[in-house]
Amino acid sequence: MDVLVLGSGGREHALAWKIAQSSQLDKLFIAPGNAGTKEVGTNVNIKVDDFEGIKDFVIKEGIDMVIVGPEDPLVNGIHDFFLANKEIAHVPVIGPKKFAAQLEGSKDFSKQFMKRHKIPTAKYGTFTAENIDEGYQFLEKLKPPFVLKADGLAAGKGVLILDKLADAKKELYSMIHENKFGSAGASVVIEEFLKGIELSVFILCDGKSYKILPEAKDYKRIGEGDTGLNTGGMGAISPVPFANTTFMDKVENQIIIPVVKGLVADNIDYQGFLFIGLMNVKGDPYVIEFNCRMGDPETEVVMPRLRSDILDLFDGIATRTLSERDIDIDERTATTVMMVSGGYPGDYQKGKKITGLNQVKESMVFHAGTIADGPVVTTNGGRVLAVTSYGKNLDAALTRSYENLEKLDFEGAYYRKDIGFDL
Ligand code: AMP
Ligand code: GLY
Repeated sequence: MDVLVLGSGGREHALAWKIAQSSQLDKLFIAPGNAGTKEVGTNVNIKVDDFEGIKDFVIKEGIDMVIVGPEDPLVNGIHDFFLANKEIAHVPVIGPKKFAAQLEGSKDFSKQFMKRHKIPTAKYGTFTAENIDEGYQFLEKLKPPFVLKADGLAAGKGVLILDKLADAKKELYSMIHENKFGSAGASVVIEEFLKGIELSVFILCDGKSYKILPEAKDYKRIGEGDTGLNTGGMGAISPVPFANTTFMDKVENQIIIPVVKGLVADNIDYQGFLFIGLMNVKGDPYVIEFNCRMGDPETEVVMPRLRSDILDLFDGIATRTLSERDIDIDERTATTVMMVSGGYPGDYQKGKKITGLNQVKESMVFHAGTIADGPVVTTNGGRVLAVTSYGKNLDAALTRSYENLEKLDFEGAYYRKDIGFDL
């Protein structure tokens, strides 16, 4: 099978690394990829939003399957684009169609879905310019902190959590009337604040059945002790100690099964990864958000723990026979720690030479924001490298990741030294 992965982050490197181990693989391409994906396949210089360019490449190379890494092309309808073009309509796309991708692309759509199917989630209201006054009244009835979410995609920045009512009202106005998040914020979901500890749960779905992948916990804040600005994620671990059988049974029965049944009942055809962001509130799971893709950096610990052939699972999705496939999970712990550019998540510089990549032992380095310049690898993004290790427990895996991080360097490099601190 010839496979094309779309994307260029650590998630896509980890997916490509896993696909490269499949006995069913012939050729692997990554568009546009990075300096890491180049080591497991062939990078192709096509952007993920260039649907025509992707189509031409798929036809030219006779690609048999396309795996979509990031949410944007899914929310913009790449799966539908394939189905609508007869030369490529037969090529399976792993990732949901545009309508189904609204589970991530519209917070209001996903909240309505959860309400309809009685899936535990925070109480909410959705407000626009038409009923902003009701939005103010809704805020007055809530206890702080106040959670405001731009309805649409806002590059991971569309959620505000505010302590003061006056600030919450001001931000609601700014989102709706001052385009704070562009058109994404023309409609705003206001939610009750859920207090607890977060967990990322992932399933593969073929439209009617599902397989549960290893769960993970990511560390979103830039600073140690979970302080400072939100980032795309500074590290992740899997398995997560509190996600024991009792808790995961609740997740499956109260969330995963109702979600998949709800998709079927609503005629929402879903083929791909579904990422369920949860809050564990005193032992009960509540959905914070759905994403129509894998998490990053969660993928960098989830893929290493998957023993099964991933192309076999993807084939199960494509042919809607996932229930006949086996999923085998590695019992070991996997941890990943992100090395990021100085200044991230604010302004940072690119083009810094990365050293030490050849010295890493007993860890895997997944590239996030890197680019190859001949034999030299330089930084090309805020999140640069994810150093993943296995261990018999959390401490052992983290110790390995940190030993190897010490060998890696580039000007301004930073990483959190406390991943897993709260567990
Ligand atoms: P989202 O983009 O929906 O994942 O939100 C970003 C982050 O905001 C989440 O990862 C949570 O840490 C936090 N968050 C979102 N919604 C809530 C909520 N209802 N209660 C508490 N924290 C939340
Ligand atoms: N690490 C969180 C995300 O990928 O959205």
